[in-house]
Amino acid sequence: MSEHLTVVNHPLVQHKLSIMRDKNTSTAGFRQLLREISQLLAYEVTREMPLTMRAIETPLCETMVPVLAGKKLALVSILRAGNGLLDGILDLVPSARVGFIGLYRDHETLQPVQYYFKVPSELDDRLVILVDPMLATGNSSAAAVDLLKKAGATNIRFLCLLAAPEGVARMKEAHPDVPIITAAVDSHLNEHGYIVPGLGDAGDRMFGTK
Ligand code: URA
Repeated sequence: MSEHLTVVNHPLVQHKLSIMRDKNTSTAGFRQLLREISQLLAYEVTREMPLTMRAIETPLCETMVPVLAGKKLALVSILRAGNGLLDGILDLVPSARVGFIGLYRDHETLQPVQYYFKVPSELDDRLVILVDPMLATGNSSAAAVDLLKKAGATNIRFLCLLAAPEGVARMKEAHPDVPIITAAVDSHLNEHGYIVPGLGDAGDRMFGTK
């Protein structure tokens, strides 16, 4: 993937995202749409996974067929909102290895604070897909990529649902080697670090908290 930023403008993705933005969409509806949309985004983010040929027998004859090559990919969720994207991707890639990075955003400084880190082994041999629905300031995502690189990852992609231009710029500056895949890039961040027009707090919307 040579582009630093890919916006998935498939009509199904855009339609589902529009319903998710609506503040009247229920928690159950939001969660279901997130699961569906993450499968469509997963399709894009895994598009360039390498294949290798394997011999099998169909009911008719022996033949060579393409199968995924190399080590299982690693999905790494930035807690807690990343977990909403994780479930849908796992529907599509059930054998993926899964890691978690616990980062919360200090509401005053907007800087990430780490409280948990557990990722699959041999990250250097895997495609690593880091997931978080909202790329806002980019501080948490950049910090999570720092941690993944320290743990050995060299082939990382960042998957989100919505991005702010500020977050895209921050990631491009900090990690130009990490492609970003998103469903939309919104207008700007407000003074509280929320994406505008956005969809509100993704964690609250998917888990029904406030
Ligand atoms: N995190 C969210 O959940 N929503 C935003 O708009 C920004 C960060």
